[in-house]
Amino acid sequence: MDVVETRGRTLRWARLYDLGSGLLHVERPSGFFGKVLDLADLLPGESLLDCGCGPGHLPLAALERIGSEGKASGIDASPKMIERAKQNASRRGVEVDFRLAAMEDLPFEDETFDVVTTTLVLHHLPPDVLEDTMAEMVRVLTPGGRLLAVDFALATQRLRLMLHFSHHLSSGALDQALRLMEDAGLEEIETGPVSRLIGYARGMKPPLAA
Ligand SMILES: C[S@@+](CC[C@H](N)C(=O)[O-])C[C@H]1O[C@@H](n2cnc3c(N)ncnc32)[C@H](O)[C@@H]1O
Repeated sequence: MDVVETRGRTLRWARLYDLGSGLLHVERPSGFFGKVLDLADLLPGESLLDCGCGPGHLPLAALERIGSEGKASGIDASPKMIERAKQNASRRGVEVDFRLAAMEDLPFEDETFDVVTTTLVLHHLPPDVLEDTMAEMVRVLTPGGRLLAVDFALATQRLRLMLHFSHHLSSGALDQALRLMEDAGLEEIETGPVSRLIGYARGMKPPLAA
């Protein structure tokens, strides 16, 4: 099986993760990814890349919104997750471009996607990798495209400890992502809650001057 180099914390237990996500009905319009896709303002015919897609539920849920003219893609640095995502797509008989790749080194041309998303992944990345990742996600966005980062938002002591012991990484990734969006010159930057513990930061790559 292919491997990809990353200092991000990848997950190998794809089947269990997928079953858990399925039980939470994450793909329903009122479910977690439904809310995330609402925030992305995804339109028919648009192209979407989900970074750290896990078993692929977000790109799969996006298909209904973008329709046959649109294109959904997902990358993850875990071979098991990508294998599972491909199985999920083929079971449904749908086309999604799932690839094994690290989000700090995206295998796509500049300005490829209208929307780039990442959910619950940023806290898996050391700060310098997160910095490279944000630059990559901005690079592959079309002018006028939207970047949406979703991650843990409440920096309570309990959450800090949980992230530290489960991932050996600190919380605060969403705050860092927000600062990096500002530094990258994204426009219309907005933040808010997705649920009690989870928040989002969203920005738009400046459109080309008329
Ligand atoms: C908690 S899961 C989130 C999966 C999915 N986005 C979701 O919300 O259900 C984090 C995912 O990030 C992936 N990951 C960690 N570091 C990564 C990196 N540097 N590049 C790509 N994927 C990475 C892990 O393998 C894992 O599938």
